[in-house]
Amino acid sequence: MARPVIGAREEELVLETLRSGRLSLGSRLGEFESAFGSHLGAEHISAVSSGTAGLHLAIRAAGVEPGDDVVTSPFSFVASANCVLYEGARPVFCDIDARTFNISAEAAADAVTDRTTGLLPVHIFGYPADMPAFDRLAADRALWLVEDTCEALGGVHADGATVGARGNPSVFGFYANKQLTTGEGGAVVSPSAEMKERIDSERNQGRAPDMGWLDHDRLGFNYRLDDLSCALGVAQLERLDEMLAGRARVADLYGEALVDIEGLSLPCADEGGDRRGWFVYVVQLPPGVNRDATVVAMRERGVDTKPYLPAIHLLSFYRERFGHREGEFPVCEDVASRSLALPFFPQLTHAQGEQVVEALRAVIERPA
Ligand SMILES: Cc1ncc(COP(=O)(O)O)c(C=O)c1O
Repeated sequence: MARPVIGAREEELVLETLRSGRLSLGSRLGEFESAFGSHLGAEHISAVSSGTAGLHLAIRAAGVEPGDDVVTSPFSFVASANCVLYEGARPVFCDIDARTFNISAEAAADAVTDRTTGLLPVHIFGYPADMPAFDRLAADRALWLVEDTCEALGGVHADGATVGARGNPSVFGFYANKQLTTGEGGAVVSPSAEMKERIDSERNQGRAPDMGWLDHDRLGFNYRLDDLSCALGVAQLERLDEMLAGRARVADLYGEALVDIEGLSLPCADEGGDRRGWFVYVVQLPPGVNRDATVVAMRERGVDTKPYLPAIHLLSFYRERFGHREGEFPVCEDVASRSLALPFFPQLTHAQGEQVVEALRAVIERPA
């Protein structure tokens, strides 16, 4: 199923930038940052080369140190745990909530020890994590807090705050499958001008924006986002609301059509005023249904699906490095073993949606 991502406006702005000859550190960077900030309702935005790069810079700015423990989710894309390892700290996992698939502040509190210095909750699949509770936990235990909002553009908390704009450092991702894409890319939302200044410097090899060429006063990285990507981002932002509405429409279509398949669990409905920013549509197969066989049978019917996501602690690298084993986080492991991501993009047509639904119904209700 084709995913037309790039429209005429994207082509126009990218080509204009290409022809300008200013391909990096040009005016598109600031333009994208301020447009993204206006959309989000946040002031201090740093565009970076990926969500992973943004997480790395954000936890450094928040104060992570080698040897620290950081409490985070085992049910996430591996980048949220990996960024902790980049700084010689240790990701400490706790189990997830069976409804939202996010870690709760209570589960996180149980995992906090004397070695813990920070919290890194993830708004998984775009569903808002319980940030008021995480804010309280961080304040009570004097912990820093960084939000992984890579999947949650368009999400809104019950108190009306946009996900990522509550005043904690937060990090968005703009990889090609995201609600908004720059190809590769990401953005850090900083709570203060000082933190933005540090992030802007560290993304550019430790050179502050007001410093001369080849002058560097701190350790930095090359985590810059080039101007072609920023131009793409500016054009995407112009139709972000429309694209988010498209995803919500597809989610409604799936929700209505899949609700009667016995044993199949659908993404949790919005509750208590929290609103999901739709990123993926992930179902939980009925217990006992073979997922690998389901993926193959769906493919034979012309529908691409993916297991999404594996439990991080059971990835071979994490098992070997930290000795993690099955059974540590039972809810996460059950969810991870049954999760299946369906085709999901704003332009998915009604007919394509029906094809997906009929294929899934046939495969689950009449397994080969
Ligand atoms: C929850 C989460 N965290 C971090 C990332 C990392 O973002 P990127 O792939 O842009 O480095 C992603 C991206 O897929 C993600 O889904």
